[in-house]
Amino acid sequence: MREDVQPGLRVLADRKRFRIGTCVSAPLLQWDPQYANTVRREFNVITTENALKFAVVAPKRGQYNFSDADAIVDFAEANRMEVRGHVLVWHSQLPQWLANGALTRSGLVEILTTHIADVVGRYSGRIAAWDVVNEAVGSDGAFRESIWYKMIGKEYVDLAFRAARSADPTARLYYNDYGIEASDEHAEGIYELIRDLKQRDIPVDAVGLQMHVDMNESKRIERLPAAIGRLRTLGLEAAVTELDVRMNVQEHPTAEHLARQAAIYRQVLRFCLQTPRLEACVLWGFTDRHSWVPHFFPDQNHAAIFDENYCRKPAYDALAEELAGPSPSSG
Ligand code: XIL
Repeated sequence: MREDVQPGLRVLADRKRFRIGTCVSAPLLQWDPQYANTVRREFNVITTENALKFAVVAPKRGQYNFSDADAIVDFAEANRMEVRGHVLVWHSQLPQWLANGALTRSGLVEILTTHIADVVGRYSGRIAAWDVVNEAVGSDGAFRESIWYKMIGKEYVDLAFRAARSADPTARLYYNDYGIEASDEHAEGIYELIRDLKQRDIPVDAVGLQMHVDMNESKRIERLPAAIGRLRTLGLEAAVTELDVRMNVQEHPTAEHLARQAAIYRQVLRFCLQTPRLEACVLWGFTDRHSWVPHFFPDQNHAAIFDENYCRKPAYDALAEELAGPSPSSG
């Protein structure tokens, strides 16, 4: 077990005016002191992991539940952190009343715009960036056949960004998706979507790269500069929004596994630090004790930078070294 070394990722990132973050769960912040203390020490931005998803915030029609989101925003303010709001419009984690309801097009438009006005409006000035639309494009590059697309058509994306901008004109508005660096078809679909939004003055400020990486797919990382460069021509900010590096290892990872994982974390953060207007690197969880990965990817695990006992892994040290290194601009 390694001793706690000062100063932690957060202080290093603050010195560079860079945002280093993680997603967080409100119950864990409340019930696991080690979890909360680690977030305080290591990160200057936090993303709501599930607290602002439609099914959590609006479990019944016309009835909101903001308790988890409020707890996260309060925690962030008490600890001088920025909050990323995740997520306003997505095909997943929708409440039953919406996913299976008998709705008309105009009814769904009303639900979408009211939801965004209420949720973004509630946290206006307190949530700095929003994932407004998540995963609208499928892996084949076409619009995903979500309830939003099937009932409203592609205009749902316009409506969502406009509603978010008017509910909080100061928040940075993100289009968030996976695999921009992994598949040409997907990347092309995302590029076309954002190009079209920009051309019509729909208020999208930034693109979020999720980056849930399997350790065996390290080649993807090499494609990041090209993928971002192309989107940049559209005048966008960017961030890595959901980084984790999972592996298919049943018992304990070996030193070699951990070194390969660390190399990928390092490569992604270095890319973030070297790329102008790439404002943040946010991890999707930071400890293997509480990780979405084994629930979602059978046989995969160990994706975070701390192990299940909150001991730092080589991936942590790699991030700390990158943050401590000289800024690209200072040579
Ligand atoms: C995941 C959460 O981490 C899990 O707790 C939940 O059960 C499912 O969703 N892409 C996203 C995130 O944009 O919202 C997902 O979060 C992970 C994949």
